[in-house]
Amino acid sequence: MTATAVAHPNIALVKYWGKADAELALPATGSVSMGLDVFPTTTSVTLLDSQEARDGFVLNGRAVEDGALTRVEQFLDLVRQLAGSDVRAHVDSTNTVPTGAGLASSASGFAALATAAAAAYGLDLSMRDLSRLARRGSGSATRSIPGGVAVWHAGDDQGSFAETVPAPPMAMVVVTIDDGPKAIGSREAMRRTIATSPFYPAWVTSTTETVGDMLTACAAGDFTRIGELTESNALRMHATIEGAFPPIRYLNARSVAVFDAVAALRAAGTEAYATADAGPNVVVLVQPQDRVVVAAALAHLGTVIESGTGPAARLVGSEGTGTHRPVQEESAE
Ligand code: DP6
Repeated sequence: MTATAVAHPNIALVKYWGKADAELALPATGSVSMGLDVFPTTTSVTLLDSQEARDGFVLNGRAVEDGALTRVEQFLDLVRQLAGSDVRAHVDSTNTVPTGAGLASSASGFAALATAAAAAYGLDLSMRDLSRLARRGSGSATRSIPGGVAVWHAGDDQGSFAETVPAPPMAMVVVTIDDGPKAIGSREAMRRTIATSPFYPAWVTSTTETVGDMLTACAAGDFTRIGELTESNALRMHATIEGAFPPIRYLNARSVAVFDAVAALRAAGTEAYATADAGPNVVVLVQPQDRVVVAAALAHLGTVIESGTGPAARLVGSEGTGTHRPVQEESAE
């Protein structure tokens, strides 16, 4: 049995930064994102013969053996638990995010893996339950299941899922300004922020409020308010992270130059708002009619890539009838 799924990355308009429960991957606050229509991840999950002792993971044509394999195996253990199966699987994933584009591949990666693995193991999950499952792989993956503009609810295991919400048409311009490795991964940085940043409690309170304000602005189609909340929430997240000890700083001088250029565009009459995740690259939220002009205006500051609003994760293929085909057969095709 092989199932193949495609999922896209998403960029948070209201950020997720901090877990209330690491084991269940429950966030400390809700968050809101826009799915992208570029950089899909395509993942196939093939069930192996029952005597196979380990899962396999091939990413962009290369066998993965390290911690990334362990993370995939632990995720598949959850799927097996739900399916009442002990059969191992081979995962083959192609991630089209250009190296160092600064877009978290874990969101599209675990959304595609959850969708393909659920189908391969014969689970018929609703979109809500698929997003709850993806959450266990990586928090931001929760929001790549429904696509569009999505809210990920804080809550308990049952209540913490993502769903699409009404919003006006929007686009993004990704400005890649640094392709070096991250100083510190978001998982560790979140832990340090919670443990040491004196601003963290204020982050939780203000973000909880911002999620509500953002949903109201989205429902009203108020792009200006959406943009203002987006930029403000991103800067609050970075301020909170910078308050950790030892300090963590993701934005560099070139990132700040993009924020300034975006403010200058606004002053000149083009609505654009900047945000940034756990790295130096900046993503600019615009209205669809402005994406070309904004991309051109920012091209001297980095590599720019435009994106519209992306679709939900989806199954694109499913073959086999539950017969466990050996992986050699699959790779020989
Ligand atoms: C800054 O989803 O990568 O992009 O749940 O530990 O896998 P884990 O973290 P991850 O963190 C994303 C953080 C962020 C903000 C966001 O996407 O909301």
